[in-house]
Amino acid sequence: MARMESVPAALGVRVPDSAAAVYVSEVSSRHSALVRVTHWIITLCFFALLISGIEIVISHPRFYWGETGNVLTTPLFQIPIPSSRALVQTGYGYVLPDQNGWSRYLHFQTAWIAVLTGLLYLIYGVFSGHFRRNLFPAGADLSWRALSSDIAKHLRFRRPSESEAWSYNTLQRLTYLVVIFVLFPLVIWTGLAMSLAFVSAFPATVTLLGGQQSARTLHFFVSIALVLFLMVHVVMVCVAGFKNRMRAMITGRAGTRKEGS
Ligand code: HEM
Repeated sequence: MARMESVPAALGVRVPDSAAAVYVSEVSSRHSALVRVTHWIITLCFFALLISGIEIVISHPRFYWGETGNVLTTPLFQIPIPSSRALVQTGYGYVLPDQNGWSRYLHFQTAWIAVLTGLLYLIYGVFSGHFRRNLFPAGADLSWRALSSDIAKHLRFRRPSESEAWSYNTLQRLTYLVVIFVLFPLVIWTGLAMSLAFVSAFPATVTLLGGQQSARTLHFFVSIALVLFLMVHVVMVCVAGFKNRMRAMITGRAGTRKEGS
């Protein structure tokens, strides 16, 4: 199984960068195959969910709170774009035409692939010790002093040193934990709370959120938080060294430095 941390780091020994460079040349595996495969499946799913989700929002860019909401009720807020699903006048009065099937179909199918892939990652993360070893920060790293120094480094977009590149820093760990254990579960819950089949079996899942329209509005905001994460995540990968980080996340192998370089 791939180990992300270097042996000196795992032993809690701080090594100077030059020494880390010597060590790095001996180790090649950074991310395990399961982490890499599930990461890229989830990324593909995320883009498909985003595109289909945007299409679904465009078809009705109004958001409500509570159980019901439609063109005849006052929205909580509305995105100032024209709706792709306007009322159409027919011989029987005004009707709302059916939404394009492709976006809903793609959204639901992809959501299930993402949920199953996420579950696989979760089970692996717990049982392999990946979360404990690589994602949960050590108690000492959570002190305000350590955190503020980490935040300052991030705000200066300081590129991590070679030794730091072998493990996630505290801010990165906390962000990943929020994405994995807060944002993803929330986006799945609020999504399922809009499924009539699901809520008829588990009605509490929607009543706890305040109704189906509240679930839709919350789903929208959690999705925006995930998009913001993705933007910062990609920028930080570029700052840390796009080629090396991507190679490690695709092949499992991180860039090596020659001894003493
Ligand atoms: C919604 C989409 C994405 C999510 C939710 C996500 C989430 C994550 C998470 C949780 C990790 C830590 C994995 C672990 O060790 O268990 C990670 C690592 C990583 N991700 Fe993503 N990611 C997404 C998209 C992307 C994209 C589009 C890229 C590339 C442009 C990318 C590049 C990477 C890289 C290179 C790492 C390793 C970081 C490092 O070595 O410091 N991710 N991602």
